Amino acid sequence: MHARPAAPGGAGPEGPAHVAIIMDGNGRWAERRGAPRTLGHREGVQALKRTVQAAPDFGIRCLTVFGFSTENWRRPVEEVSDLMGLVRAYVSSDLERLEREGVRVRILGRRTGLPADIAGIVVRAEERTAHNDRFRLQVAFNYGGQADLVDAAQALVDRAAREGRFEVAEDDLAAGLSGAGAPPLDLIVRTSGEQRLSNFLLWEAAYAELVFQDVLWPDYGAEALAAAVAEYRRRNRRFGGRPAQPVLAAG
Ligand code: IPE
Ligand code: IPE
Ligand code: MG
Repeated sequence: MHARPAAPGGAGPEGPAHVAIIMDGNGRWAERRGAPRTLGHREGVQALKRTVQAAPDFGIRCLTVFGFSTENWRRPVEEVSDLMGLVRAYVSSDLERLEREGVRVRILGRRTGLPADIAGIVVRAEERTAHNDRFRLQVAFNYGGQADLVDAAQALVDRAAREGRFEVAEDDLAAGLSGAGAPPLDLIVRTSGEQRLSNFLLWEAAYAELVFQDVLWPDYGAEALAAAVAEYRRRNRRFGGRPAQPVLAAG
């Protein structure tokens, strides 16, 4: 997952292949309208649908969205159950279309602790779309970057006990993360003006570009995504190397 092309250079007009979004601002969107937070979350699902639809037009092949963090359990119980309800609604209304349109769905995060029916929905969504390869949609749900790293480390410890292999390479750890197999992460977007990762994709973020947008998540869609992609394409990605230089003509 950390593997990169040897030649550093600009982001180029063709990327980003893999975009991750911290979908933030549902609550503030609702509060500004004097509406309950639940309305903001419901509109947030519509924004997710618009964004998934638009993503392939920008050359994006993989989209990872943060739906529920391991820390979001700290919210009042009604809001937690509201957010769980949205997963049921999203998957039941959209799974068929996602399957038809060639989208492979992956759920990142811990399966333990999820209500039984949600755990079932997660498995069904993955199984029904496992054959698809046109586009990959990863939904981080009950996900924390630190927990994901701990789980990957635990898998390596178990392997060491089983097979007596005590050396760890970067690829070994990356292979144990719940998003293993996705293209390298190019861009992390956070909406709502907050500028932090909130425990999202800590390992994968290593050389991702970060773009913070002031738009609240329920207002997100093709236009805001276009702006994030345009900002990404202006960046010069170096991966620790030298900035891309114009090639001088010989003689
Ligand atoms: C993001 O919106 C959705 C989730 C965290 C699930 P918030 O609910 O965090 O909205 P704000 O940040 O309070 O506005
Ligand atoms: C991050 O947003 C989690 C999701 C978008 C699912 P939060 O709103 O929970 O993050 P903090 O609490 O502001 O850092
Ligand atoms: Mg928030």
